[in-house]
Parts: sequence; C-alpha cells; structure tokens
Amino acid sequence: YEIYLNGLTGRHPPYSAHVAELERAARERLDPGAYWYVAGSAGTGATDRANREAFDRWRIVPRMLRDVSVRDLDTELFGRTYPAPLALAPVGVQSIVHPQGELATSRAAAALGVPMVLSTASSHTLEEVAEADGPRWYQLYWPHDDEVTLSLLERARKSGYDTLVVTLDTWTLAWRPNDLDRAYLPFLRGTGLAIPLSDPVFRSRLARPVEEDPDAAIMQWVPMFNGRAHTWDQLSLLRDNWEGPIVLKGVQHADDARRAADAGMDGVVVSNHGGRQVDGALASLDALAPVAEAVGDRLTVLFDSGVRSGADVFKALALGARAVLLGRPYMWGLANGGEDGVRHVVRSILAELDLTLGLAGFRTPADLDPSVLERA
Ligand code: FNR
Repeated sequence: YEIYLNGLTGRHPPYSAHVAELERAARERLDPGAYWYVAGSAGTGATDRANREAFDRWRIVPRMLRDVSVRDLDTELFGRTYPAPLALAPVGVQSIVHPQGELATSRAAAALGVPMVLSTASSHTLEEVAEADGPRWYQLYWPHDDEVTLSLLERARKSGYDTLVVTLDTWTLAWRPNDLDRAYLPFLRGTGLAIPLSDPVFRSRLARPVEEDPDAAIMQWVPMFNGRAHTWDQLSLLRDNWEGPIVLKGVQHADDARRAADAGMDGVVVSNHGGRQVDGALASLDALAPVAEAVGDRLTVLFDSGVRSGADVFKALALGARAVLLGRPYMWGLANGGEDGVRHVVRSILAELDLTLGLAGFRTPADLDPSVLERA
C-alpha cells in the first residue's frame, strides 16, 4: 500500500516492480561486457532456462477462510533468527555494475537484516564490506594453498562473518560463450580480486609487490583457486579451522548432500550457479526435493538458481528449502540504483512472498510442504 498511497499524491515509484523490467533498464545502462557477464550463463543457456521452467511446472493451491491476516516470515538459520527466508547470494565483481559494488549491497542487506554472502571474488575487501553492520556470511573460493585459505578464514572470522559458504561447483570456470566472444573476464582486469590482493599471506608469495606488478599478482592468484578440484577428504581442513556453520554450495545430488552431513557440514545450498557452470545440468528446483528428503533432518537446506519472485520463494520453501539465495535480480537493482536499488528488489520479493503466503492461506514459511503445490 505504501506504493499505491504515494501514487495518490503523484509520487510514483523510481523503480519497476518487474524484475525483467529492471534487467532491461540495467542492460541500457551497462556496457555489453558487464551486462552479459551477469546475465549470461554456460553453453547454450539450457540450464538457465531449465531453472525457470522448473518453477513454471509447479502451481500453488490456495486455501481460503483461514486466519492468515498476520503473517510472520521470521526464519531460523544455524541458531540465529533472521527476518525472512532469504539471503543475498555471493556474486563477485559487483563494481562492474555499480562503483559502490559490494559496499552498496552490504548496506542494503544490513538495513533489511538479511544475510549478505560476500564472494571471495569481491571488488572490495572483506574488511571494507564489514563496515555495514548486518548479518555477514563469507563465501570461499577455496585456494590450493592451505596457508592462504587459513588466512582468508581468519580475516573473515575477525571481521564478523559468522557462516562459511564453500562453493564447490566452480573449481574451474565453465564454457561461457557470452564472455568468450567478448574476451571479457572481470577477474583478469583485477576487478574482483580485492580480497586476495589485500591478503598478507598471498602477498608474501609474490616475487614483487602487487603495487609494482599487479598483472603478475593476478596471474598468480588465478591458478591458486581455479583449475584443480578439491576432494571430500580435504574438507577436514575447513572443519578444523572454522568454528561457525559451514555450508556447501552447489550440491545437486542427494548422495553428495549425505556426504556433506557425514563430513560434519551444517548445510548445503542446492544450486547450479544460476546455470553458469554445467550447461545441460538439471534444474536446481528439480534437485531440491530429493536433497531435502535425504538430509533435511540433518542439514539446513538452502536453495538458489532461478528465483525471480516471491511466488518462486514460496515454491522453493514448499519443496524443502529453509531459505533461498537471490542472485541476478539484486544485481539489476544494484545496476539501477546502488544500495537503494538492491533494497527495492529485496523488499519487493519479500512483499510478494508475504502476499502469496497469506493469499494461499498460510501464515509462516514453516506451514509449507510439498502438499501445497501441484504439478502443472
Ligand atoms: C555468481 N555466483 C557466484 N557464486 C559464488 O559462489 N561465488 C561468486 O563469486 C559468484 N559470482 C557470481 C557472479 C554473477 C554475475 C552471477 C550471476 C552469479 C552464483 C550465485 O551465487 C548464485 O548461485 C546464482 O546467481 C543463482 O542464480 P540466479 O538467482 O542468478 O538465477
């Protein structure tokens, strides 16, 4: 009603309520390399499309005449209560869409009380981003130099990041035609390397200081985290050196989720990286229910890839996610309006979730289970 009431006095909203419209406006503002880096996906885009189609195959079955005037989106994750079942997914190199990048995103997240998952590929250091005093999670791109890994974990801990998200699906970069055609990889321009380039242990590995030879530093970082996979037995290094919850991101098979539980992890993010890694991989939403059935009683199951609306969040919660991570939509908000734009997108999706919940006859996310949906 805030928007409609403003409209009565001639004040119209600065941003569209359609995510697709925000994307169109962002496309007009951004240079094509930056736009396609964010919008693009792997290969033919089959998995990116599959992510969306999977949402369309489920329909909500609304129920009437229930006491649902007051809803409550509060969500407990890893022993802490958040105001909504939503976090901002780790998205690297945010300064390619807005100069304030992750600083703007972290202020928006802090204002709303939702967790921001800061990417290792951030354009600002984790200490700078920590100045916004909201819930902070840190996403690790796991280096193949244990001392660098431990240094990143220590910096994250000291700066108040309490939950570690370890991304498994991007140990090497996939075939991304949009970026290949433009020869556009922000990391190779240094955008997105603020965390390693400011790391004392990484810096001690360099033959010459970063300031004197930034290109050599970049070329030394890339193979340190990209090109070789880790294996299950190596997770103990992280478990032994991180006291808080650890969440594995990029899980798509129930057996991998079971192994995560066996390895002492606290959660998984069912994700295919927004269709940016294995083109032809199954839709993330189709991977969700089997994972939730396998480990829902042992792990906190989170979800991302393809969420574009409050109704999508509702469906993911019904299929077993405790909360969702939002990816590209908040980047379109950031591109259009910095901190304010991110806040707009998150508030809009949460407002729609709240309305969908109530209009479908439910009061809280915990009321949802697969029986509230039907296959279209
Ligand atoms: C990502 N994602 C990502 N994930 C991660 O763990 N670390 C990262 O640095 C990045 N960087 C990144 C950049 C860009 C431009 C995009 C679009 C995505 C993946 C992200 O966390 C999430 O899994 C997807 O964005 C979810 O899909 P949707 O919501 O974008 O469809």
